[in-house]
Amino acid sequence: MRHLMSPLDFTVEELDTLLDLAGDIEKNPDKYAHACDGKKLATCFYEPSTRTRLSFEAAMLNLGGSVLGFASADSSSAAKGESISDTIRVISCYADICAMRHPKEGAALVASQKSKIPVINAGDGGHQHPTQTLTDLLTIRSLKGRLNDLTIGLCGDLKFGRTVHSLINALIRYDNVKFVLISPEELRLPDYIREDVLVANGVEFKEMERLEDAMGELDVLYMTRVQRERFFNEEDYVRLKDFYILTKEKMELARPDMLVLHPLPRVNEISVEVDDDPRAAYFKQAQYGVYVRMALILTLLEAAKEDEHA
Ligand code: NCD
Repeated sequence: MRHLMSPLDFTVEELDTLLDLAGDIEKNPDKYAHACDGKKLATCFYEPSTRTRLSFEAAMLNLGGSVLGFASADSSSAAKGESISDTIRVISCYADICAMRHPKEGAALVASQKSKIPVINAGDGGHQHPTQTLTDLLTIRSLKGRLNDLTIGLCGDLKFGRTVHSLINALIRYDNVKFVLISPEELRLPDYIREDVLVANGVEFKEMERLEDAMGELDVLYMTRVQRERFFNEEDYVRLKDFYILTKEKMELARPDMLVLHPLPRVNEISVEVDDDPRAAYFKQAQYGVYVRMALILTLLEAAKEDEHA
């Protein structure tokens, strides 16, 4: 059974095929309107979400399928103490594919080991968020025309931000991608990414604290929210939450074709006055998230069908 836990579960060639499919879906939505007739997607969300859950649901509905699920741990039997392994065994009887978000790192992986249907990791704690990464790759490829030869600035909460961890893992496989890691000291990228992924693969990167110092050299600026829910104390959060605010003035330091991305939700880290800048691509990015999840659902259901016949 094929699942999606990390962006590395797909080879670069498979990712290219998936992004091509997403591109075709964008251009010819009618062609796919009945591709999943009679199929069901379960969304099992133990943690808050707007975009990820609703874009998964929109994706399945656009394909002609239907959706069921829960949007918080307290409205599922987790509140009664049921294990994820038991929950997924049961969901496997009700649905054909499942997207799961959980506050614990590795939760979706545990579920996938007991599942009879494809499981998609829709975010596991501060660890990975592979479908956001597929969204980010599609956005960059569509708007920049390439995934190689890029200098990418990652700004904000690089410690707890799972979107950043997944994106780095995915992008290092393309040629000549450099990173500028912009964060306060306390929110630096964890060692298991900096050392084990960047250093170990000889990827060029630098770390800095001031966003202004990085702006001029970036092809893409990926802003992130300070992840309040993963802090151990409120005082630290309050001290760090407004460390970065992208403003019109700072945008003046950027290249005319730099893209601003953000997985959203935004709190204060991008001033609303930047929204009208043609380089602000974060709402477009949310739209790409639907196309890429449609492509992913199709790909995993196709793989499951092949497994069945094997
Ligand atoms: C992100 C997440 O949940 O990790 N949101 C999303 O899925 N688009 C980023 C965040 O919550 O800050």
